[in-house]
Amino acid sequence: MHPHTLLSAGCCLALPCASALHLREPRDASPRVVQFDLQRKEIRDKVAHDRNRLNRRADTVSAKIDNEQLLYSLNISIGTPPQDFIVAVDTGSSDLWVNAASSSLCERRSKPCDASGTYSANSSSTYNYVGDWFNISYVDGSGATGDYVTDTLRFGGETVKDFQFGVGYDSSSTQGIMGIGYPAGEAQVAAADQRTYRNLPAQLAHDGVIKSSAYSLWLNDLDSSTGSLLFGGVDHARYTGDLVTVPILRPQSSPYSSFYVALTGLQLGNIEIAQQGKSEVAVVLDSGTSFTYLPKSMVAAIYDAVGAEYSATEGAAFVPCSLADQQANMTFYFDSPAQIDVAMSELVLDAGNSIGGGQADVCLFGIVPSSGLSLLGDTFLRSAYAVFDLDNNEISLAQSNFNAKKSKISEIGTGDNAVPSATKAGGTAATSAGPSSTSTGSDADDGVGMLRPCMGGVLASLGLAGLGLLL
Ligand SMILES: *[C@@H]1O[C@H](CO)[C@@H](O)[C@H](O)[C@H]1NC(C)=O
Ligand SMILES: *[C@@H]1O[C@H](CO)[C@@H](O)[C@H](O)[C@H]1NC(C)=O
Ligand SMILES: *[C@@H]1O[C@H](CO)[C@@H](O)[C@H](O)[C@H]1NC(C)=O
Ligand SMILES: *[C@@H]1O[C@H](CO)[C@@H](O)[C@H](O)[C@H]1NC(C)=O
Repeated sequence: MHPHTLLSAGCCLALPCASALHLREPRDASPRVVQFDLQRKEIRDKVAHDRNRLNRRADTVSAKIDNEQLLYSLNISIGTPPQDFIVAVDTGSSDLWVNAASSSLCERRSKPCDASGTYSANSSSTYNYVGDWFNISYVDGSGATGDYVTDTLRFGGETVKDFQFGVGYDSSSTQGIMGIGYPAGEAQVAAADQRTYRNLPAQLAHDGVIKSSAYSLWLNDLDSSTGSLLFGGVDHARYTGDLVTVPILRPQSSPYSSFYVALTGLQLGNIEIAQQGKSEVAVVLDSGTSFTYLPKSMVAAIYDAVGAEYSATEGAAFVPCSLADQQANMTFYFDSPAQIDVAMSELVLDAGNSIGGGQADVCLFGIVPSSGLSLLGDTFLRSAYAVFDLDNNEISLAQSNFNAKKSKISEIGTGDNAVPSATKAGGTAATSAGPSSTSTGSDADDGVGMLRPCMGGVLASLGLAGLGLLL
C-alpha cells in the first residue's frame, strides 16, 4: 500500500493473512542476514469482507476488490510479555503499526482484528509513549490514527528494544502493517512535520544485525502461498539470469521516500504496448498492493490485446480464465538490460465468489488503470527477485526462480555496489544527460516529476561495475 501523502486519488489495496518466519543467527562465518518466510492467505471472513465493501466510498477505485486479493504477511511480537501479531509487509510505506484492542473496529462483535492481533499498551512493562500524532492513510482509503510508542519488537530470535511504531486507536484495517520503505516516507514526517525515526530496515542496520539497509523480496508464483523477505542478503538460488541494478528515482526537491523506478517499455507477446526508450513512466515497486496500476493509455492497449472488460464500478478488469493458458509474457523493461517477464498465467487471478457475479470462467486481470500513481504490485513482483538497497538508492532486479527449494545466500555489504553479483544497468535512459524529469506518457494524471540520481554517481558506478562485486 502506498501512503496518501504522495498523491490524492485512491487506487489500490489488498488484505489479511497469516505468516511464518525464521531467523538466521548472525555468526561470524555465516552471512549477517535475517530471513522471514512470508505467507499469503485467502480471506475466510466473507461477512466482514462484505461489510468492508459496503462501508467503502464509491470513489475508491478498487473498493470492491481490495479484500479479495492477498497480502504477504509475517509474524512478529511486541511488548513484555510478548503480544503476537501477523502484519502485512509493505514496501510502499514506512511505518509499522498495529491495532489497539480498544478501537471501535476491533471491538465489533465479530472481533475482526483477533486473527492478526491487537496491542495493549497497559499490558506491556516495556511500553513507552512517544506522541499522539500517528496518522497514516493509504491510497485505497484505509488508514489508522493514534499514538506513536516504543516497545520491544521480537521476530524469531531477534530482539529490538525501544522500537518505534504506531498504535491504531482508530483504524479502518483489521490487520497491522509493516512498512519497510525509506524513513523519509514515515507518516510522522509528512503528516506531522516530525523528523524521521529508525524504522525496521534502518534499525537492523544501525544495530549491526545487517550491514546496510537493504533486503531482498521473493514472493514466488501465484500457485505458491509463501515467499520470503531476506534482510541484509541476496539468495542467488531464487533468481535466474543476472541481477541488474537500476537507480531509484527521487521526486523533485524531496528526499528519496518511495521505491520509484523508471519503466522504459512494455511488451505483450509480440505486441508493443509502450515502445522501449520512447517514454518513461515512474512506477513504485509496492508489495502492499495486490494489483499493478499503469497509465490509462497503456492499460487500454493491454485490454485490447487480451480482450479484458473493465468495470468501473468493480474497479476491476475481467477476462476469461482460459487466458491463463496463453503462452505469452508481458515484458516490463527498465534501464537496459533490466527486464522482467510476467507470464500470462501470473496475470489471471481467481475472482472468488463475491465478485463478477460468481460466474464460472470469469477471472480478474492483474493490471488495472492507475488514477494518479503507477504501482507495480504483487501481480508484477511475484515474477521478480527484487533487492531494495536503501543506502545506495538502487533496486536490483532479476527473473524469479519460481519454487526454488535451495538457498545460496550471500550478505549485502556496505558502500557502492554492495549487492553481491549485481551489475549496473547501462541503458540509454540511465546514461542520458543530467538529472531530468521523466515523461509520463499521455495521461496528465500520471505526472510525478522525478529526478534521476546525478550523472557523476551513475558513471562512477558504471566504471566500477566490472570490478569487485562479490564479497
Ligand atoms: C505465525 O503465526 C501463526 C498464527 O499465530 C501460526 O499459525 C504460525 O505457526 C506462525 N508461524 C511461525 C513460523 O511461527
Ligand atoms: C491504561 O489504563 C489506564 C487505567 O485503566 C487508562 O486510563 C489508560 O488510558 C490506559 N492507557 C492506554 C495507553 O491504554
Ligand atoms: C489524519 O490525517 C488526515 C489526512 O491529512 C486528516 O484528514 C485527519 O483529520 C487526520 N486525523 C487525525 C485524527 O488527526
Ligand atoms: C516467458 O518468460 C520466461 C522467463 O523469462 C521464459 O523462460 C519463457 O520462455 C517466456 N515465454 C515466452 C512464451 O516467451
